[in-house]
Amino acid sequence: DTKNTSHSVVPRSNIQTIGVVGCGQMGSGIALVAAQYAEAKVLLYDSNPQVSAKALEYINSQVEKAVQKNQVNKEQSASILQRIGPVGNLEGLKDCDFVIEAVSENLSLKTNIFQKLAQITAADVILASNTSSISITKIASTIQESGRDDKVVGMHFFNPVPVMDIVELVVGLSTSAATVQITQSLAQKMNKKVSVVQDSPGFISNRVLMPYINEAICALQEGLASKEDIDQIMKLGTRVPMGPLTLADFIANWEMTNIDPVLC
Ligand code: 3HC
Repeated sequence: DTKNTSHSVVPRSNIQTIGVVGCGQMGSGIALVAAQYAEAKVLLYDSNPQVSAKALEYINSQVEKAVQKNQVNKEQSASILQRIGPVGNLEGLKDCDFVIEAVSENLSLKTNIFQKLAQITAADVILASNTSSISITKIASTIQESGRDDKVVGMHFFNPVPVMDIVELVVGLSTSAATVQITQSLAQKMNKKVSVVQDSPGFISNRVLMPYINEAICALQEGLASKEDIDQIMKLGTRVPMGPLTLADFIANWEMTNIDPVLC
């Protein structure tokens, strides 16, 4: 930490406003739990305004469901919704206290966003990525010159975000201990348990999950059992909510195509 003088800027721990970049399935869920549980103001940015609009629709429907289930009252639901709003460009995130990037799993797309965020946001703001398989160290290295690489961290949520209780907190080579501690505390405020892991291909979740899914696919290819039976054996036999083939479809193709080949 002492090698780069900019690392002496202490990361911001008073987090009132959270920026979310990328409002697809993951980003919309992250925005919801940030507003609902961490009671933060949430600014949503997506390069496609239709995606932001869809995210707001999803958030509205989830809050409405929570009211119907008596999990929140009318007043609370209004204040959750009032805390979340879209912004038209990345510059709209300039006053955020913490930013979570949740765009698709494309390294150059992510690094481009991190480079812009490093300029737009204040020097003490932590920049987290919801990546499930891209190296946090690699993303951080692209903003090393700005001296912000100690404030880059992985904050890997699971799908569906409001349902899944865990955040895999990924520590890159340059991530500081203060960044880890503040991110952990924020994730807990977002009603998640946190496990801290060192940056490595697939982290823990996808390092373990992808070979499991690949084996199910290989077994199907070898004609050992039908897809229904492969899923049923694993679902009932290991008491998981979905079999591996259903899960593969659920987490979508981009996960499978972006995993580091070293794991496959
Ligand atoms: N958003 C919010 N809530 C949702 C939801 C969503 N998209 N989808 C389902 N839910 C809620 C429902 O409202 C319901 O809530 P309730 O119990 O309070 O009424 C609850 O989840 C159960 O939903 P359903 O009754 O409709 O259906 P299921 O019982 O089949 O549950 C499931 C659906 C929660 C998706 C369940 O099948 C499941 O847990 N599947 C496994 C999911 C999983 O393994 N996710 C991790 C994937 S790996 C990952 O994300 C990391 C990546 O990097 C690979």
